[in-house]
Amino acid sequence: MSLASFPGGFPGGGSSTPPSTSSTAHSSTKVTVPALTEMKRQGKPISALTAYDYPTSRLADEAGIDLLLVGDSLAMVVLGHENTLSVTVDEMLHHTRAVRRAVRRALVVADMPFGSYHGAVGEGLANAIRFVKEAGAEAVKIEGPRIDLVRALTEAEIPVIGHLGLTPQSLHRMGGYRVQARTSETVLQLKADAHALADSGAGALVLEGVPREVAADITAELPIPTIGIGAGPDCDGQILVFHDLLGLTFGPPAKFVRQYGDAGALIRSAIEHYREDVEHRAFPSDEESYHLPEAARKALDEIEAKRTVSGHDFSRAAKAAN
Ligand code: KIV
Repeated sequence: MSLASFPGGFPGGGSSTPPSTSSTAHSSTKVTVPALTEMKRQGKPISALTAYDYPTSRLADEAGIDLLLVGDSLAMVVLGHENTLSVTVDEMLHHTRAVRRAVRRALVVADMPFGSYHGAVGEGLANAIRFVKEAGAEAVKIEGPRIDLVRALTEAEIPVIGHLGLTPQSLHRMGGYRVQARTSETVLQLKADAHALADSGAGALVLEGVPREVAADITAELPIPTIGIGAGPDCDGQILVFHDLLGLTFGPPAKFVRQYGDAGALIRSAIEHYREDVEHRAFPSDEESYHLPEAARKALDEIEAKRTVSGHDFSRAAKAAN
């Protein structure tokens, strides 16, 4: 951490919270799961984004994003894994805490990673409680129609966001990342699962990688909001992976990704510029250096002068000889 990072920040919260720097006026009212349902009722689109660390979560929150999901996509876009399957509960907790510390307004949702809720309901419940208790999550997201678990979480006062369609944790069963619900049977199954999740207490539903017509029907039928990713424009909200939005991923983007900025190019160019400056001794400049106070410099000169007079300054003598 640099000295410049200390003043004015709000790690740990407290009274030093700076005002939002967002240029768009935005309500500062805390977003909750019931507020999402109210947004659906009022026809207000829900903006959602994935989040993994303090600075970018703080920027997203200040920019007025309604929901920040600490997605298990962390495994791929932050940790460099091939898929989402290997990320652990402890790794997800670590990043959820960082996001929690950054966010004031948005709803903070933690994605439960593969294996943390696929066994007994009690085990899923215990892991979900860790996200709320140890990391400050306000809701958890789980993939698939796990109705018994959603009911148990709801009874335990933990809001749940469901996730249907292309569920990346089902990669091996699906045989790859493929658009789902493309036949009448699978559309009917998806709709039944969506209704079952809503009936069992889910507070919202992520629909990923499904035809827009199917997402539109489900959105119209459900009392809870749908949040789409690769599910067309008719969902109640949209979510994107932060790194896709900002050009910080390295492969070709999926069809549904819209890149709103090129942070990759910005970062690369800034780092190259810095390296060149170091190599050419153009950084740091005198203005970027700390200077010895005048009084200390004078005192040192006097000490040196006394040493010279008493004949003890061997280093000066050696220098003079050269
Ligand atoms: O992990 C994630 O990023 C997600 C979103 C794509 C919904 O689950």
